[in-house]
Amino acid sequence: MPEKHKKIGSRNGVTLTPFILKNGDLVRNPENALSRVIKKDSFLAKLAYEFRGIEVQLQNFARMMFPTVKPAGSYNCTFRLVPTRSEGLHFDYFAEGSPMDNSAPKTRVKIFLNLDAVDRVWRVGPTLPDFLKISRGVLPDVLPADLNTLNYLIDRIGNAERCAAVEVRIPPGGAVIANGATVGHEIVYGNRMAAIEIVGENTAFVNGFEGERRASVQWMKDAGYELSTDFDGILKSLEGVPSGIDRAKERLSAIA
Ligand SMILES: [Fe+2]
Repeated sequence: MPEKHKKIGSRNGVTLTPFILKNGDLVRNPENALSRVIKKDSFLAKLAYEFRGIEVQLQNFARMMFPTVKPAGSYNCTFRLVPTRSEGLHFDYFAEGSPMDNSAPKTRVKIFLNLDAVDRVWRVGPTLPDFLKISRGVLPDVLPADLNTLNYLIDRIGNAERCAAVEVRIPPGGAVIANGATVGHEIVYGNRMAAIEIVGENTAFVNGFEGERRASVQWMKDAGYELSTDFDGILKSLEGVPSGIDRAKERLSAIA
């Protein structure tokens, strides 16, 4: 897939029927984003139906594995058919680091399935609580009281690449269940992958755990940081600072 369709998924309609009936004729379904990318009808049909098949299987798998997590919205199944190389160790963030809704004890569960014919290679580093502890002096003394803004800040100035990590190889057809926001990770090598994501309330948290969004505030306090809710101010102060992906691209072009 072209680079700009790096993370297409259910939300872009790619698992909807690729053709619809219009005035008695089969025409391309404009709601399916693939219909605007793929020129050949037969290829569009094959890809859309294969995507739908994978989505159904991953939905069933997710329901079976996590029956107590109640999705806040629909499941999102994404397809990453763009080669990924040495992207750098990082903690996931979304929506340019905007703070998340912490009003409910929500969690994010993700299943990554290797669709390629060769191993997908990850490196897995420290958990977020450990990273915070070993990053005193690297991170500012005052951190944003929100997991997503925190991870954005770490991406810009946390230098997560310095951490030790272990290699994990996911064989063809193998899956990993992980929350990339709470454990440092890097895709070292990968070509084709599908992932399903559930964000919702877990009705079966144990030992007072209320999900990573709420727990992360305590992780920061435990590591000795002060907290700030000036999210706009923090995000503004990071404007123009290169991202982890920018740094990874620089490293790769230096090697080339
Ligand atoms: Fe990631």
